[in-house]
Amino acid sequence: MIKKKTYDLNKFFFKSIKKSQPFTKVKLAISQDEKIAWHNYKSKWISNEFSRQYGHKLRSTSQAILTTSKTIIKDNPKLTVRLKKTNEIHIPIIVIDRYLKIPISSKILKDISKKRIIIFTSKKNKKSRDLTKLGCELVYFKLNKMNKFNLKNLFKKIYSLKIADVLVEAGGILFTDLIKNKLVDELHIFRSNIYIGHKGKPAILKNKINDLKLSIQEKKIFKNDFYYKYNLI
Ligand SMILES: NC(=O)c1ccc[n+]([C@@H]2O[C@H](COP(=O)([O-])OP(=O)(O)OC[C@H]3O[C@@H](n4cnc5c(N)ncnc54)[C@H](OP(=O)(O)O)[C@@H]3O)[C@@H](O)[C@H]2O)c1
Repeated sequence: MIKKKTYDLNKFFFKSIKKSQPFTKVKLAISQDEKIAWHNYKSKWISNEFSRQYGHKLRSTSQAILTTSKTIIKDNPKLTVRLKKTNEIHIPIIVIDRYLKIPISSKILKDISKKRIIIFTSKKNKKSRDLTKLGCELVYFKLNKMNKFNLKNLFKKIYSLKIADVLVEAGGILFTDLIKNKLVDELHIFRSNIYIGHKGKPAILKNKINDLKLSIQEKKIFKNDFYYKYNLI
């Protein structure tokens, strides 16, 4: 029993050492019909404030947040931990931005002295130099034949940067790629009762959450939202 508890507490540590890659949790707020955003990417919450508060708890127990250029551009999130209204904690943020599209005015780049910002990119240009001057860590990575990063290599690189536990906060395109590469350890789903419709952006491309091999670990109700924590099998 004690052994199991210790293992649960340190599972990210054991898993990350074994694989030399970070323990990876994905957090997704989804609609009834498994969409993560509206067709025009309009900025609107899918989950309620109680779910979002729990989302901050998940951030607070992670070593870094991993996101994409697209989520930064569409949402302009702060990606800080706000467990209390008066208190904002900055944790490292990793951005996958192959063509360096994120605006310099993005909220994540404010208060940069208080946090670590790591940007994976293929571009070495004036913008990359400006971002470095600002205090970002730029990691140059080659694109493969599909013009994408090899995510397995990218995750090994994250681990080598001394980050052993990440919370992914991005859309369905990255989530689908992570699943394909078997890089997800834990899935945190907040399912709301709203319906977005077939034009909405899917949580997972050409698939449903229930098609994944999942083992349920926890279930909670946050007013009208259902929260599920799964391990990927
Ligand atoms: N409901 C939620 O929980 C939640 C959470 C976060 C975000 N969102 C929403 O999700 C929407 C975006 O979702 P999305 O599915 O369209 O996009 P996404 O998954 O956030 O990002 C896709 C982009 O990430 C980059 N990318 C992904 N895999 C890559 C790889 N292997 N190599 C290189 N680059 C890679 C590419 O960026 P580039 O094309 O720019 O190079 C790609 O276009 C936004 O509206 C955001 O608000 C929802």
